[in-house]
Amino acid sequence: MTTGIEETPPLDVSDRAAARRIGELVRAYGYTRELHMSNEAFQVIDHDVRDNRHLLAKHTPPVGKVECLTRAFLLDAPTGENIARQHLGDELVDLCLRTRLMERLEGGLIRGTVNLVSNDEFLLVSDHNDPVRREKDRNWVMGHSASSERLTYSMEMRPYGRMLDLCCGSGVQAFHMAPHAREIVAIDANERALNFGRAGAALNGFDHIEFRHTDLYSAVEGETFDLIGANPPFVVKGSSRQLFADGGMGADRFSEKLIREAGAHLNEGGFAHVISDVINYTDESAEDRLRGWVKDNGCDVLIFAGVQMFPPQYVDAWLSSLLKVDPERYTAERTEWLSYLTEVRVAAIQHHFVGMRKRTTGEPNWIIYGPVPKAVGGHYGHQVARLFRCIDLMRASDEIVLNAKLRVAPETRMTMLFEPGERNWKQSETKLLLDGGLSFSKEVPGAIGRFAGLCDGERTVSEILGVLAQAAGISLDDTIPHALPGVRDLLAFGYVAPAAD
Ligand SMILES: C[S@@+](CC[C@H](N)C(=O)[O-])C[C@H]1O[C@@H](n2cnc3c(N)ncnc32)[C@H](O)[C@@H]1O
Repeated sequence: MTTGIEETPPLDVSDRAAARRIGELVRAYGYTRELHMSNEAFQVIDHDVRDNRHLLAKHTPPVGKVECLTRAFLLDAPTGENIARQHLGDELVDLCLRTRLMERLEGGLIRGTVNLVSNDEFLLVSDHNDPVRREKDRNWVMGHSASSERLTYSMEMRPYGRMLDLCCGSGVQAFHMAPHAREIVAIDANERALNFGRAGAALNGFDHIEFRHTDLYSAVEGETFDLIGANPPFVVKGSSRQLFADGGMGADRFSEKLIREAGAHLNEGGFAHVISDVINYTDESAEDRLRGWVKDNGCDVLIFAGVQMFPPQYVDAWLSSLLKVDPERYTAERTEWLSYLTEVRVAAIQHHFVGMRKRTTGEPNWIIYGPVPKAVGGHYGHQVARLFRCIDLMRASDEIVLNAKLRVAPETRMTMLFEPGERNWKQSETKLLLDGGLSFSKEVPGAIGRFAGLCDGERTVSEILGVLAQAAGISLDDTIPHALPGVRDLLAFGYVAPAAD
């Protein structure tokens, strides 16, 4: 029988040495991300709404260290305490009982009270992925999800001073940034999430992350940061059921407030990265609304517009697991949710990435809104940061662009297509694309493709155009007005970048 999550007492990591020792032992026992990824159980639990944990537990008998840990912390399956002690050792079992990562059940059994996974470089504590609890307990704490990953991948991994993990949940963004930021403040409205965040930080030995209870920015009033990462409760709905999903302000007002106020919490040059669902109303597009939200926040803004869903698709996508858990409630909630979206005249809901960089001097701030590029192969934060610098230059005067030294980005690839000509192949198409990370693909004039290849970081744009003009037997003065828009286009997509990058 499932009990409410609030009945379980909070984890106790006041003894940080003990918590750190648990982390060391768990990792030393081979409970790693590689193990999870090679384990069908993890894949199914992580990416599927079906609850197969009990079936998978049957196929994971407690015959070794990894199996005992998997049963306790991934499958939520009880194991005989004696057997667990035999494999995991008294030290680890005692420490887990003391910190309440494990609890005793009747009949000499023990279980893991939380979901514990190895995520790249760190351990993450969240609630067990129990669909009943997830659907019914308002304070259920999520672990690592596809949206967490999207946000992590967008942030550049480089040294920062202060980082804010806004709506931190179990702390996944803070933990990713822990090796890169001098000081991290992680804030959330859910005390249960903060308890898990503190426990995770202790297991990993991260002593420079401070967890604070907040309502949006209330816990960091007047404070500024060099990096803000926010994967907020962005689900668009009228009433609130799950703290991790919807911010309880109706429509997309939580995201609006968060995005509008981000600039006030950034240091000059600092970045805020936010992912969110934004409404396309029947009479106002998501693009216009987002432009309105960011226009006075002192930031240059890069927005990628992603998948768009119509209300029934959207509601069904979010309610699919409730249907399995509680069909009656599903029907009532679906009806209520859809009539709310109709009532407030939502045409579609669209996922967005919003990148903001604080800049209060020089030219007026810019806002670029475009379709989301395909993200392939993991982290692309360095490309996002580079794009900001490319766009700065793209918007500069002709003189500055002509005197700039550019370098072709290491991810840039060029393909050419030829078709039969009268006597030989005739070039019909030149395409540039970025291979890995943010993958923009775009057809360009052949000469612009060749220009990109000549960007060696040594010669100025003007010098390279001179080389191409001479080869074509045209004067540089005639070439420049035709070529500059193409050069700016290369910068807009990050195919070439300022040489200093
Ligand atoms: C989608 S989860 C994100 C968790 C984590 N940051 C990640 O990237 O996976 C959203 C989080 O926002 C928190 N939240 C909800 N309302 C909030 C509020 N008013 N202020 C701050 N955090 C809030 C929830 O408790 C939840 O932990």
